[in-house]
Amino acid sequence: MVDRCVCFNRLFSEMQQIMVHKRLNTFEELKRYITFGENCKLCEPYVKLMISTGRTEFEPIEISGEKK
Ligand code: FES
Repeated sequence: MVDRCVCFNRLFSEMQQIMVHKRLNTFEELKRYITFGENCKLCEPYVKLMISTGRTEFEPIEISGEKK
């Protein structure tokens, strides 16, 4: 399961809590608040999914036929 930004070791559940406590609503607001997703950026689609669905764990999204 994918549950964090691996590069910055930030759990999606931790990001979600920060969003609730700081009343952040968007990916951009979260990005301004904490550092994540600045390296490989593979976590970006998952963070956006977290924001839109409220989930914090995901099956790997297939990228060009390969599981990442
Ligand atoms: S996993 Fe988030 S930048 Fe690499």
